[in-house]
Amino acid sequence: MSPLAANAGRDRLRIAIQKSGRLADPARSLLAACGLSWRESRDRLFCYGESLPIDLLLVRDDDIPGLIADGVCDLGVVGRNELDEQAAERRRNGLAPAYRELRGLGFGRCRLMLAVPEHWEWRDAAQLESLRIATSYPALVNEWLQAQSVAASVVELSGSVEIAPKLGTADLICDLVSSGATLVANQLKPVETLLDSEAVLAGPVREPDDARAPLAAMLLRRLDGVLKLKDSKVLMFRANAEQVPGLLRLLPDAEPPSRLTAGVEAVNGAGAMQAAAESGLLSLQALCHGAVTWQLLEELERAGAQGLMVLSVERSLV
Ligand code: PRP
Ligand code: ZN
Repeated sequence: MSPLAANAGRDRLRIAIQKSGRLADPARSLLAACGLSWRESRDRLFCYGESLPIDLLLVRDDDIPGLIADGVCDLGVVGRNELDEQAAERRRNGLAPAYRELRGLGFGRCRLMLAVPEHWEWRDAAQLESLRIATSYPALVNEWLQAQSVAASVVELSGSVEIAPKLGTADLICDLVSSGATLVANQLKPVETLLDSEAVLAGPVREPDDARAPLAAMLLRRLDGVLKLKDSKVLMFRANAEQVPGLLRLLPDAEPPSRLTAGVEAVNGAGAMQAAAESGLLSLQALCHGAVTWQLLEELERAGAQGLMVLSVERSLV
């Protein structure tokens, strides 16, 4: 069977990711952090999963929703902007939803925004009546216009949307904004947000009922572990029991600390354990989601924490 042959009864999971572009490297790093590794083919379009029966297909990001809809791929990492645009297009054509967003992945953040020439005075959407909006997201823009009860025309462009007002082919634009530099360079200003976007993991509306289902479930569980632990640290310290609530209030998004028992013994030896018990100090560890800065450590010390230590977290099943 060729690696890309039909979908029915496959026992390997196939994930589509962007071949090159903004989402390509972070998508691969994220999947690698979930324990996946691949053997690359010479054409670099198909990567055979070595550590698990999970293969990668490297494609253009606008092909990803269709590949999921057609069952060629089981999952895809794609911008929400692309996924939602194609979903809106399906709605417009009276087609049933074919894919859904499973997880926001926290990278590739941007916004789909309406932007107008800098000198315009912006009040509200009613101003757009009879104007021309250049965009690569015609379905989303049309749905938004309908929701605002505004009749404007949508000029579909596949790229270089920002120069349309200067060229006179449109009055304003609707495009992705990340840093905002492209808008500034084209004397445009953002006025309305249609969509907050980021990279997402997308899958079919109906899950497969073969060996791919447990594989997908395992991958999602690992992904949740990775996403949850992103920027997380374990903070170890000693403190009196009565100081713990105050210390916890200082911690960024902390999960309640657990008392170390055997851990202390193994690391510091029984003597340290004995000393801690005699001094009435608890040995604690807290999982913190957020930055644990030097300043924070100093504040914790002033609030009674001793022997502070910050550790990285590599992986976890929680
Ligand atoms: C996107 C978008 C804008 C630009 C916005 O284009 O279409 O042009 O990025 O980014 P900024 O706010 O940081 O300036 P991209 O570079 O992805 O190319 P494309 O439009 O050709 O897809
Ligand atoms: Zn662009």
